[in-house]
Amino acid sequence: MPSGAHKPSPRLCPPAFPRAVGVVGTGSYVPERVLANADLEALVETSDKWIFERTGIRERRIAKDDEFTSHLAAAAARRALESAGIAATEVDLIIVATVTPDTLVPATACRVQSLIGATNANAFDISAACTGFLYAMQVARQFIANRICGTALVIGADKLSSLVDWTDRNTCVLFGDGAGAVVLRPTEHGGGILASFMQSNGNLAEILQVPGGGSAIPITAANADQNLRTLRMNGRETFKHAVTAMVHACFTALDTAGLKPGDIACVIPHQANVRIIEAIADRLDVPLEKFFVNLSRVGNTSAASIGIALDEANRAARIRRGDRLLFVAFGGGLTYAATVLEW
Ligand code: UT7
Repeated sequence: MPSGAHKPSPRLCPPAFPRAVGVVGTGSYVPERVLANADLEALVETSDKWIFERTGIRERRIAKDDEFTSHLAAAAARRALESAGIAATEVDLIIVATVTPDTLVPATACRVQSLIGATNANAFDISAACTGFLYAMQVARQFIANRICGTALVIGADKLSSLVDWTDRNTCVLFGDGAGAVVLRPTEHGGGILASFMQSNGNLAEILQVPGGGSAIPITAANADQNLRTLRMNGRETFKHAVTAMVHACFTALDTAGLKPGDIACVIPHQANVRIIEAIADRLDVPLEKFFVNLSRVGNTSAASIGIALDEANRAARIRRGDRLLFVAFGGGLTYAATVLEW
């Protein structure tokens, strides 16, 4: 090395052997404004009874117009860093999973980096809809396991209210806004993430999509009135595939970890519909009481869903050191994933 050349950071030590990676802090944030089922009765032909019986949702949180995905994400990230006792400047990597970025360029993760002052990090987004948080965790895990970096901030954040068609009762009753975050670091005594399974099925892309606003159908003056930049979903098809795919993901991740469903202390599923969660509980033969469910209060928060639920479970002392947790998600793509983690 020529004299005076830049010395590599101690965090960027050369690859040796993969190391275990665990969660050292959690945080979440949901906007203040509550939109109850009764409020939706004024917008579309629906009822609190139908929404609650068919989905398990009572209310959801909606961000203000000037509250962007990066603001939700930064609030959750600050809380996760605080719970980990880690300064923002110690973060090497920020991944934001989102389908509602503030802007197409730059990535929302870069905006979060600036908002929280994580000046030493590299930052990028991942788009995997409601599965994004688990995809992002698995990506960050590789960076740490392979000694590319030491501290990662993984955030799932979505302002789905910005994609909802408020005249479509099939979708507008389901979604809410929010963000959930975890700080990942190497674990000193093993444990941490034991196994992760990720898969997607692009052949089923059409059953859950936002058709316009990308390079395929840019929004122009000619099509601006066609509502193309809103979410379209075939609910029944999505439901059917969700259950099958999530159960498959759970069993595959558990097998990889050498565990059985009965070894799991707490399941934290993507919060889309309580009937999906009940179907998974039934097929795994795990009592519903072991599932952490908060969708009655927050609705489906897309990529934020598992991060918010994990933070709430953590702060409510629903999980203890040594517990084995199972995360499972499903979303547009179609994408699905499951992760087994020792707390
Ligand atoms: O996070 C990404 C993954 N997303 C999901 O996993 C969502 C999966 N799908 C679901 O959760 C459910 O399919 C829904 C909650 C979206 C719909 O429930 P469903 O029991 O599958 O209802 P459906 O779509 O089969 O519709 C049944 C009836 C229909 O009326 P008709 O045709 O039988 O007369 C709908 O028009 O319910 C009607 N309906 C409603 N009625 C009152 C649909 N939405 C509403 C509504 N209020 N909001």
